[in-house]
Amino acid sequence: MEIDVERNNCWRRIPVGCAKKKTLFLLFVVTTLIYLVLNWEVTKSADFLERPHENHRIRLKPAASPSFDVLSLGPQDYKRLVDLNDFHFTLIEPEACKAPVFLLVLVPSAPNHLHKRLNIRTTWGHRRMEVKIVFVLGRVQDNNLQKDIENESEVYRDVIQGNFLDTYQNLTYKAMSAFKFVLYHCEKALYVLKMDDDCFVNMPLLLNFLKNDLSVYGTDNLFLCNDMTGSPVIRDVHSQWYVSEMDLSDEFYPSYCSGWYAILSPDVIFRLYESTQKLKYLSIDDALIYGIAAKKCNLTHTDFSRYTLAYRSLDLHFNGTYDSLPLLFGSPNMNPEQIKNCWLFFRSRPVAASLRGALGT
Ligand SMILES: *[C@@H]1O[C@H](CO)[C@@H](O)[C@H](O)[C@H]1NC(C)=O
Ligand SMILES: *[C@@H]1O[C@H](CO)[C@@H](O)[C@H](O)[C@H]1NC(C)=O
Ligand SMILES: *[C@@H]1O[C@H](CO)[C@@H](O)[C@H](O)[C@H]1NC(C)=O
Ligand SMILES: *[C@@H]1O[C@H](CO)[C@@H](O)[C@H](O)[C@H]1NC(C)=O
Repeated sequence: MEIDVERNNCWRRIPVGCAKKKTLFLLFVVTTLIYLVLNWEVTKSADFLERPHENHRIRLKPAASPSFDVLSLGPQDYKRLVDLNDFHFTLIEPEACKAPVFLLVLVPSAPNHLHKRLNIRTTWGHRRMEVKIVFVLGRVQDNNLQKDIENESEVYRDVIQGNFLDTYQNLTYKAMSAFKFVLYHCEKALYVLKMDDDCFVNMPLLLNFLKNDLSVYGTDNLFLCNDMTGSPVIRDVHSQWYVSEMDLSDEFYPSYCSGWYAILSPDVIFRLYESTQKLKYLSIDDALIYGIAAKKCNLTHTDFSRYTLAYRSLDLHFNGTYDSLPLLFGSPNMNPEQIKNCWLFFRSRPVAASLRGALGT
């Protein structure tokens, strides 16, 4: 009883000796509230994601260091690229990730696609503090083209180039050199988007999704893309996707991600890279890396196709219908004009804070 009175007195009159107790109590209440709010956020985020990614670790504070150790790959790994043993970057941006990078965007690009790169730089890829875009190229045999690329690299400081010949059959080298860049030169990036140079990214919505639905401090085990399941291995020698029985005897590919975009956390890149380094080279980069290699290291992806625009819808005249469309990515094979129109449209509309509840889910 006496204790009660004393405490009540504390609150009513706040005598000098009680000020400390009151401060401690308030501190306790505030801490508890913060804890509850944070936990609520986590529960909401976890609800949002689909089954395969229930094991995301949503970070509530910055990770002390990357959750993978690139040194574990051995001293020869840097020079190795699947079955090549003399890999190096002929152009590299060692300072690209000196400032903290929230989202690293890797854009494999054909050497002569300067116009597409310029279009990206002036539309969805325009400079932002927290986003770093890096275009990934291979070697060219035309000296004039190489000079142009070097000039472009000096002007924009966003081009890296590997020493493999830049051809369609060598796309797997390109993807793997992009991953190598992340692991050896940008390992602290919190999120990575790998994206073709002929697509549109709704960057403000993507950033809101990563920050508000996931975490401002990053996460792990993140592997989102457009699912490809049940794709047969193409045996028609005239197809650009032809694979011989000798290179791969399976009739079907394991489930994989369509190659045009994927949202990945760096630990997933590490596992895909490590797994692919041990495989026989295959030119179908998405099937090899996101399918065969992913299966080997037990990684599964989450389908995000409902947040992407189907190519056939591109001729649509944008109107109010698109306002409620939680669109993150435009389709492959867009021309610069279409990319620009898409960007202009979404730039003029309000941006949703979150994908939670989008599409009535
Ligand atoms: C270098 O690149 C910039 C930007 O693309 C261009 O304006 C300039 O003409 C180029 N210079 C040379 C010498 O090619
Ligand atoms: C792929 O790159 C390697 C290394 O530069 C080169 O030797 C090979 O000819 C290229 N393959 C094709 C099909 O272009
Ligand atoms: C993948 O899972 C299988 C079955 O659970 C297991 O035997 C194998 O060791 C795992 N592989 C890796 C790389 O974790
Ligand atoms: C907006 O465009 C879509 C697709 O072309 C069309 O179905 C819809 O009727 C249009 N809405 C308005 C209000 O014009």
